[in-house]
This record gives sequence, C-alpha cells and structure tokens, in this order.
Amino acid sequence: MKRQHVGTLTPEDLGQRVLLKAWVHRRRDLGGMMFLDLRDRSGLVQAVVYPETASEAHSVLEPVRSEWIVEIEGEVVARDDANINLEKATGAIEIRVDRAAVISRAETPPFVLESYAEASEELRLRYRYLDLRRPELARNFLLRHQIVSATRRFLETHGFLELETPILTRSTPEGARDYLVPSREAPCQFYALPQSPQLFKQLLMVSGFERYYQVARCFRDEDLRADRQPEFTQVDLEISFTDEDEVITLIEGLFSEIFPLAGIEIETPFPRLSYQEAMARYGSDRPDVRFDLEIADLSDLLGESGFRGFSAAIESGGVIRGFAVPGASNASRKQVDGWVSIARRAGAQGALTLRHRDGELQFQVKQALSQSELESVSERLGLAEGGLALLIAGPEATVARALGALRLELAKAYDLIPPNRHAFLWVQEFPLVDGDAENGWNALHHPFTSPDPRDLELIATDPGRVRSRAYDVVMNGIELGGGSIRIHDGDLQRRVFDLLGISAAEAEARFGFLLEALKYGPPPHGGIALGLDRLIMLMSGAPSIRDVILFPKTTSASCLMTEAPSVVDDSQLEELGIECRPQVGTDD
Ligand code: AMO
Repeated sequence: MKRQHVGTLTPEDLGQRVLLKAWVHRRRDLGGMMFLDLRDRSGLVQAVVYPETASEAHSVLEPVRSEWIVEIEGEVVARDDANINLEKATGAIEIRVDRAAVISRAETPPFVLESYAEASEELRLRYRYLDLRRPELARNFLLRHQIVSATRRFLETHGFLELETPILTRSTPEGARDYLVPSREAPCQFYALPQSPQLFKQLLMVSGFERYYQVARCFRDEDLRADRQPEFTQVDLEISFTDEDEVITLIEGLFSEIFPLAGIEIETPFPRLSYQEAMARYGSDRPDVRFDLEIADLSDLLGESGFRGFSAAIESGGVIRGFAVPGASNASRKQVDGWVSIARRAGAQGALTLRHRDGELQFQVKQALSQSELESVSERLGLAEGGLALLIAGPEATVARALGALRLELAKAYDLIPPNRHAFLWVQEFPLVDGDAENGWNALHHPFTSPDPRDLELIATDPGRVRSRAYDVVMNGIELGGGSIRIHDGDLQRRVFDLLGISAAEAEARFGFLLEALKYGPPPHGGIALGLDRLIMLMSGAPSIRDVILFPKTTSASCLMTEAPSVVDDSQLEELGIECRPQVGTDD
C-alpha cells in the first residue's frame, strides 16, 4: 500500500483503507479509546484506536506521545455528528486504526507546539526545527515556495535568464556595513559578501544578456528590526534598453500573478507619487496610504499670523503643515504629550493641537490665531466636529518627517488602518543625493543610479535638487523593492562619483572594473530588486520577517540554534594571519 498524506483525505474517501506515516500532534485517551491527531506537512487528521477491535494496534501505540512518528493503517470513517469540526479540512472524517507501528520516538519537546505562544521566541529559535513543525509557521514556507516558483515562471516567460553572481566578492555600496571574509591566500585581504548583486548585474548587461534575474542572497551588517535581517533574499533583475515604465509595468504584472496565490487580489496600475509629493502629503518616502490623514500645507494661511511660532518659521524659510484626525478631539493631555515627544524625536520643536469641540475651534495657544485663521485652517484640513488637528512649523524636511511619524502614530491610536486592505504605490523622482556641500553628499539609493537628464546641469550648481531615475514600490508603508535606470556613460559615472566625494583614485580602486566595462559598448539599462522576505511577510500577514525566514538571526545578528557567530580554532586564525584583540568594554 502507498502512503497517503493526511491532508489529502476528504469525505469522498469514506470506506477507503489508507496507510499514513505521520507525527503525533496530540494524543487523548477517552474511556479506553485513544485519539491521535496525526500531522504531516499537508495538515492534520484524527485517528481513533478502539482497544476492543484493534487490541494489538492499541498496545503498540500505548507508549506513544506527542511528536513521535507512527505508521497506521485503517479505514476512513465519518465522525459522529457531535464530533464534526467544520473548521478543519479533515474535520468530518477520522481514521479507524487497525494496524500500527512506531517509526520514531521523541523526547518531550522543550515547548508544546500547540501552545507555542507560551514559549519565548528565544526558545523557539533555539529549537527552530521543532518550531517549523507548527502548521501556522510551516504554511509561510509553502507560500514562499509557491511565490518563488511563480516568480521564476513569470520572469522566464518574459525572457529573463536566471544567472548566479558571486558571493565572495568586493564591497558593493548599498549603504550598510559589509560582512567581510578573510582570505587565506592573501593575508590581510578580505572578500566582502554582496550587499546586493548590483555591479554584477550591470556587468551582465554589458555582456549582452539583456534580461537577467536571480533569487539572490544579500548580506548587510546593519541595525536589525522587524523587517530587516542581516542575510536576506532579493528577487533581483536587470533589463537592457529599458525605462521606468517598462520596469514598473513588469513588476505590476508580476504582483498581479503572485498576490492572488496568497488570496490577495490587487488592482493595477498602482498610483505613482513623486518623492516631493510623498513627503509633502504623507511625510514619508514610503507612505502608508491604507488610511487618509493627509498632510496639508498651511504656510500661506498662517505665515503672517500674529503668532510668532508660525511667522518665525516662515521668515526663516520653513513651512507650517498639519493634518486632522476625526474623532480625536477629546485626546488627553498625556496623549498629546506623547505626540509632542514623537515630533521632538523627529527633530521638530513640538506640535500644537487644534480641536473642533462643542461647535468651537480651540487652538492650543489661546487667542494666538484669529477666528478667520482658525476657520480657514480647519477648512483646509477638513477638520470636522469631534476632530483634532496637529500643526507643526519649522524647516520643511523636519516638519514632513515629524508629521509623517505622527500620522502613523495617530492612525494606530485611533484604529484607522482597515484590516485586510492592501495599498500599493510607486515613489519616483527621488533626489539623487542627500546631505549638503559642507558635510558632503551621499547617494540616496546607490552611486550607479542615473540622474534625471532634465537636471544634469544642477549636478554642478545645486546637487540637492537633482532628481534621480530611481523608483521604489511600497506596500502598506513598507518598502518592498527599489531600483533605477542606471548610469551607462563612464563620464557621467565619474561626475557622480566626484559629487559623492569619491576621488578618481578611489573610484579606480573600488570600481575600476565597472568604469572599464563602461568603455566597451554598454547598453542603457535599469532594473529593480524586491525584498522577497518582506513580500512574503506582508502576503502571509506574519508580524515579523523572522516568521518567513527558515533560520533567522536575532536582533543581535546571532543564530540561537547553531550559535553562530562563534569563536574559531587558533590554528584557523593563524592560517589567516589574524590575531583577535578583545574589544574595548568587554570582559575577556
Ligand atoms: P535596496 O537596497 O533598496 O536596493 O534593496 C531592495 C529591497 O531589498 C529589501 N531589503 C531588505 N530586506 C530584509 N532585510 C534587509 N536588511 C534588507 N535590506 C533591503 C527591501 C528593499 O526594498 N541594488 C539595489 C536594487 C536595484 O537598484 O536594482 C538594492 O539592493 O525590500
């Protein structure tokens, strides 16, 4: 007889004999009868063993406990009406066991898989292979497999070749620290693990492959968060002879194929916002547009008001902006203090409230604004009875950042984010660089991003205003992917390096091979990389990126199961010519 997967059984199999090999998820004994919930990767099914009619099987199974593996044979029968569980796929049937064997024994697991929530994440990560037995978690990896597989099919039908780029390589600047690997052959020299395959994929375009993709592992030594891991995966692609529209349409087509696999229907095309607009309206370059709370500029209404806090901001070149929150007019002093601290943490001097309460407009600083100013502000913000507006004045970037942070905070506090809503958008026309002439300019994406041809003149005169040909795709306020049209002209690449303070000698040392390649007929090209882990996290509704990575690292970048990173033998260090010095501030 052939083994069947438990989850494939349905009421259509009633009366069939089956052979199952599965883990014991749970065992219960009731009046001599034994009930086993059997689990394999396809799901769960209940098996029942009657001591009277299957005494041998009953005694074989007698010692069985959770997480043992058993082999059983028996008949698919209908459950009593009272025991039907419509929530489970196999809830209307059970297996009446007549033969059984134990395949594998298990010690008592360190946490009960069924009530894993009681176990600390630390314990679960230490025993990750057991944690992964939990159907809720395992499901994320089934989805991950389906998405990767569908992505490959989609890209292949669009003419992409899957090509692998090196892992032992040189540093690729993506804004994080590198993970370094010492070389044995060349003492005191290091490979860097790739932060992305960026330079290689550009070189593949020079080679003439025209359309490349890779499910690429990337490594970045940066501060970790719920949506960041030191080692993560990108769906990375590059196209020759392309433009923004082609890349954007391709990714929208891909998303239309893969999101329905997670039960999420999406509408394309996604809205597109310029960086400027995203910052002005949402205070973020990855706005969450599942809810409104749109920011409006009030500078023209309040710039000349008698209130110094406002007029002074305008006189020094700043702005006054705000947004209204319906239903928040009774916010407590403590809540408001909390919001003010958020604004301060974002660099603003504070935030002021305007309440629409009992038919009156009440500004926090009494009598500072005239009735007509209050009315025009509340009209601009759409502040209705029962609502509260938050107003901030100051330098534009600071105001945007602070209101952006408050917008998210208030949406959460007032429960304004509709569940099951998925909001996608593109952000385009990012500035090429940030920083200033005094402290230097930094690439906002990476140094290979093409400036917008309309702004080439500004590179020399006003670099901060140069727009780039970069684009990001955002979902629910999370950056899912980013890319750009690249520089394919060696002279322009040198000018951009120069702007970034990368001297000719340094450019030659770090990227000489790229500059060299750009001499030999490089096609215009561009591409994008999607964060696969973030994609699966959002699709599966998992709260953390760790739930969609098989063996994730903790926030201090260690693997609790293998205990990596770890010390190595002195002989290994000697071979590599490395001597370890205890770090300042540690005991050893
Ligand atoms: P970028 O740096 O924007 O672009 O990365 C692309 C996407 O990768 C995901 N991502 C991460 N996911 C998990 N943990 C991390 N530490 C992490 N860092 C990034 C994000 C992000 O949008 N070479 C360019 C792409 C290009 O220009 O084609 C690049 O790597 O979802």
